[in-house]
Amino acid sequence: MKRLIFLLLPLTVYMLACAGGGDKNKPSASSSDKPAVDGAKIYKINCELCHGSDGKLKSNGSKDLTVSEMDLDMRIAQISKGKGLMMPYEKILSLAEIKAVAEYTMTLK
Ligand code: HEC
Repeated sequence: MKRLIFLLLPLTVYMLACAGGGDKNKPSASSSDKPAVDGAKIYKINCELCHGSDGKLKSNGSKDLTVSEMDLDMRIAQISKGKGLMMPYEKILSLAEIKAVAEYTMTLK
């Protein structure tokens, strides 16, 4: 099982690198200064591998997000710092992105 992570990890980083520059062909959003941060999209790219599209997959020993009792701040902290097999995202995602994806996980209940 552990080997799977080593296969998936570079893939995740690769997909992220692609996603980073992918907003160019998007029609300009209403807010002019900040690019829109889409928590659902970030989740799909970074989290679905272990947590599944509905948060219930529990692959690689991850938790079922639909029954998580964590509040938003705790989620932001864990996503930033990682825990167990979940890697820290603070170097991969911006704080705004971490916040957006944490908010998205709150909607999976
Ligand atoms: C490599 C697999 C993996 C990926 C990818 C992953 N997680 Fe996790 N996640 C875990 C594991 C394992 C745990 C349980 C950690 C523990 O408590 O030991 C966990 C726990 C969590 C928890 C805490 C749930 C609880 O109630 O304890 C949250 C919230 C969470 N993940 C969100 C995310 C988000 C958001 C992403 C994407 C940015 C993500 N995870 C990506 C494996 C992963």
